[in-house]
Amino acid sequence: MPKVVIHKDGQTFEGEVKDNSNLVVRAGIKQFPYPHFSYRCGMGKCSQCASKILSGAEHLPPPNWKEQKMLGKQIEAGWRLPCQLWLHHDIELTQEGFVRDPATLAR
Ligand code: FES
Repeated sequence: MPKVVIHKDGQTFEGEVKDNSNLVVRAGIKQFPYPHFSYRCGMGKCSQCASKILSGAEHLPPPNWKEQKMLGKQIEAGWRLPCQLWLHHDIELTQEGFVRDPATLAR
């Protein structure tokens, strides 16, 4: 089972999730990492779930078109949209410090 570590508001939250879990779906049904995880649409349209991957990024698929559209150059800095990710491996991430790429605002 993948271990998930989330850093938010100066605190660290840890939990295990079933293989093939989506953190936004889990938060939506009030399982870990709820309530310590920000999200809104669950469909790659709002960037509210944007998270910087601190470790485990090598196990994730390449960013899909929604992530590319919403995150722009922030992908290069390690940001992903967890609503678009189904986890199979351990991951550590933070939702602190996201600044939207100005180039994505007009889209
Ligand atoms: S929850 Fe809206 S983009 Fe992920």
